[in-house]
Amino acid sequence: MAELILGRVLDIAADPFASPPEDCARLHDGIVIDGGRIVALGAAAALRASHPAARVTDMGRALILPGFIDAHMHYPQTGIVASWGKRLIDWLNTYTFPEEMRFADPAHARAQADLTLDLALANGTTSLCSYCTIHPASVDAFFQAAEARGMAVAAGKTCMDRNAPEGLRDTAQSAYDDSKALLDRWHGRGRATYAITPRFTPTSSPDQLAALGALWSERPLALMQTHLSEQVDEVAWVRDLHPQARDYLDTYESSGLLGDRALFGHAIHLTDRERRRLAETGAALIHCPTSNTFIGSGLFDTAARRADGINVGLATDTGGGSSFSMLRTMASAYEVGQLAGTALHPVQLLWLATAGSARAMHLSDRIGTLAPGSDADLVALDLASTPAIAQRTNRANDLWEAVFPTIMMGDDRAVAGVWVAGERVAR
Ligand code: GUN
Ligand code: ZN
Repeated sequence: MAELILGRVLDIAADPFASPPEDCARLHDGIVIDGGRIVALGAAAALRASHPAARVTDMGRALILPGFIDAHMHYPQTGIVASWGKRLIDWLNTYTFPEEMRFADPAHARAQADLTLDLALANGTTSLCSYCTIHPASVDAFFQAAEARGMAVAAGKTCMDRNAPEGLRDTAQSAYDDSKALLDRWHGRGRATYAITPRFTPTSSPDQLAALGALWSERPLALMQTHLSEQVDEVAWVRDLHPQARDYLDTYESSGLLGDRALFGHAIHLTDRERRRLAETGAALIHCPTSNTFIGSGLFDTAARRADGINVGLATDTGGGSSFSMLRTMASAYEVGQLAGTALHPVQLLWLATAGSARAMHLSDRIGTLAPGSDADLVALDLASTPAIAQRTNRANDLWEAVFPTIMMGDDRAVAGVWVAGERVAR
C-alpha cells in the first residue's frame, strides 16, 4: 500500500560540486512511496489528491533525505572502535588483526554483522560498503544479515597473503577461488553487490593482486575496494615492497585493479600522476574523515579532488573511524575541509553522504537520491533533537542554517525515522 510521508523533503538533484550548491537542492513537502520504490515528490495537497488511498505519515518539520550511504567500513571492527594510541600499522597489528581472527567462528561473525547493521540503521545509514575478514563465512554472515533487513549493501572477503599473522592469511589461489564463489553466490542476489577486496598492497603479494585483477576482468560488474595512500609510512612501505612501481596506485593498476567500479579508501597522499589516472578512469576515492584524524593519517582535500574531476564518497571507516554516525562523519568532513582550506556547504556534505557514495558504489540508479523509480531508502531527521541544537536551529534564518547545526552536533537522537525499501524500520 502506498505511503505518503509529509515533512521537509530535500531533493538534491544535481552535483553541488559542479553547480552552485544552493541551486542543486529543492524542497518539497511530501514524498509518496509504494512497492519499495519512490513514486513522487511534491506539494502535500497535490500528492494527497493524486494518491488518495495512500496511508499518511506526518513527520512534522523533520528533514527527509535519502538514507545515508557509508561507502567504506569494516563490520568486523565494530568491537574495537575507539581503541587508543596507535597509528595505522601498529593499530592493525595491536587491535584489528586479533579481533579479525575471532571471525573464524561464524557465530561471532553473525553477531557482529547483526550488531553493526542495527547500529547503522539507528544512525540513518541504509547502505554500506563493508570489508569482511579473510573467512568466507564472514561474508555470508554479513550478506545474510543485510538480506534479513532488506538493505542494499556491498561487501567482500578481505584477501591477505603476506604481512598478516598466521590464521589471517590466504593464498593467491584461495583468495581467487573463495572470492569467485562468494561473488557468484551473492552478487545481484536481492540487493547485494559483491566487492572484490584485496585489503591493501602491503598485505597482498603481487601474485594475489594479479589473481584478483584476473577475477575482476572475468566479473567486471563487481566492485573492487581497497586502501590507498592513507599514511606516509604506509606509502614508504609500498615503495620498498614495489621499487619498480611508478607509485602506490600503480601497484593496483598494473594488476588490473583500477577502473570505474574501484573504490579507494583514504587516498590522502597522492601524486599528480595518481590523481590524473583516478580522474581518467572514473574510480572513486572514499573520504573517511573521523578515521583520518583518529589514526592520524592526514587531511583529505575533498574540494580539490572534486576539482580534479575525481568521484568522492563519504564513509565512517569504523573501527578506524570513531563513529557509526554519518552526521558525525559529515561534521568531521566539514572540519577537515576547513583545515584544508574549503568550507564545504551543507548541501555538499549531504550529497557526499548520499549521492556521492551511491555513485562511488555504482548504485546511483537505485539509491542515494529521491528520483522517482529508485528504491525507497529514506531517513527523517529531527532538526531540534537536543536542547543545544534546538536553541541554534530556532534562530535560523534559512534552511541551511536550520540544517547545519544537526550536521555538526547531531547523532542518532536526530534520526526520527528510517525506511528501507519502503518499510519503516526504526523510530
Ligand atoms: N589499511 C589496511 N587495512 C586497514 C584497516 O582495516 N583500516 C584502515 N583504516 N586502514 C587500513
Ligand atoms: Zn578501511
